[in-house]
Amino acid sequence: MFIGLDLGTSGLKAVLVDDSQRVLAEATAPLQVSRPQTGWSEQSPADWIAAAEAVFDRLRPVGLGSVRGIGLSGQMHGATFLDATDEVLRPCILWNDTRAHEEAAELDGDPMFRRLTGNIVFPGFTAPKVLWLERHEPRLRERLARVLLPKDYLRLWLTGEHVAEMSDAAGTSWLDTGARDWSDDLLAATGLARSHMPRLVEGSEVSGHLRPELAARWGLPAGVVVAGGGGDNAASGVGAGVVRAGDAFVSLGTSGVLFAANDGYHPDAATAVHTFCHALPGTWHQMGVILAATDALNWYARLLGAEAATLTAELGPLQAPGQTLFLPYLGGERTPLNSATVRGAFTGLEHATDRQAATRAVLEGVTLSIRDCRDALAATGTRIETLLAVGGGSRSDYWLGAIATALGVPVHLPVAGDFGGAFGAARLAIMAATGAGAEIATPPAIARVIPPDPGLSAAFDDAHARFRAAQSAIKDLK
Ligand code: XUL
Repeated sequence: MFIGLDLGTSGLKAVLVDDSQRVLAEATAPLQVSRPQTGWSEQSPADWIAAAEAVFDRLRPVGLGSVRGIGLSGQMHGATFLDATDEVLRPCILWNDTRAHEEAAELDGDPMFRRLTGNIVFPGFTAPKVLWLERHEPRLRERLARVLLPKDYLRLWLTGEHVAEMSDAAGTSWLDTGARDWSDDLLAATGLARSHMPRLVEGSEVSGHLRPELAARWGLPAGVVVAGGGGDNAASGVGAGVVRAGDAFVSLGTSGVLFAANDGYHPDAATAVHTFCHALPGTWHQMGVILAATDALNWYARLLGAEAATLTAELGPLQAPGQTLFLPYLGGERTPLNSATVRGAFTGLEHATDRQAATRAVLEGVTLSIRDCRDALAATGTRIETLLAVGGGSRSDYWLGAIATALGVPVHLPVAGDFGGAFGAARLAIMAATGAGAEIATPPAIARVIPPDPGLSAAFDDAHARFRAAQSAIKDLK
């Protein structure tokens, strides 16, 4: 048996799989995000541990005596600041926190960052958060001894070791992404050295072993290996079998991601596409990232006092986008805008705009942002022929139909089950424990294919043109 743990933004999920990758049990524990100031987004690392304890408590009755490996997946880019005794200095500054936008622009202005990392230094990435700490919380900066990504803090609790792996490390702005190693020069540019960083392994390698006291607490055997794992997007790639060039998925989670596996390292930072190491050795991937996908739908549902699932279930068959547009920039945007200050908007509201029209506009706004990601990927030469859909938003057929039509590609919906980060992490655990490789990262069985609706593609093209015009109109609005 193997366990995959995915430390997401809205919750921690565990899957227990057998040796043939059959899911035996799942458990989740919710997590809250705190937003104490505009643009801020934080979580307490102690809550991650409490959530991990809760999911182990829930899995324990299934019997964990034959678990051989644990894999980790996690929300990327978060800065968990530790002192020399591994005490957490402050709440973790998450991936969708844009407070360090000035520091990010400053680092991005040094051509070395794009050259070595292959990426824009986005405000949500890890490195600029250290400069922010230095300027705003200097007493804490003085005590800073180590910076860990969220899932690597969970690993510290599980194994007692400071270890990161390539796919998540690539989102820090400290990794030489082509060389798969920390860059001393990039670290020095933020006043850090290799000693502040965890040791690096590949996602499918052993990073450490489960601490005996935790094994005893939940009835696991001695010597359980903990695999490197992956950032949640790379881990989802492994879970969904998106590991070879030409394979792609769209993830509708808190963030929205259009992810393509590549045949090598092909950075093109200017497009605002992210080029990161994949979770398997010697492989890389690209992705366009939008900051609010289900986060936008959930915001809108809260505003209406309704459940998101109720709102999407009310919609009939796919329709041509109407007059009303929604721009989902609730906390700034990454691809293609790289803006911490842009904010969302409804445009084209009219007397006839009712609840369903507004719901459609929200789903379409995210869809058209994903189309922006497709265009950014295309500008780097990456083509997407078919797409797998993963993440909570993929439960809405309306949304998937809109994406298929706006992108002009069929969307493949896996059979019921989770083929996201937790399942990918379990696969990485199998690899670390048994020596298996990419051959076990097979695509899931497909339940349904949602084709583009050719009768509506011109309407979606037109909506995208209007969306781009609205985007330029509000981009610099303060
Ligand atoms: C990727 C990113 C998000 C988070 C969400 O760059 O910031 O997709 O990983 O968990």
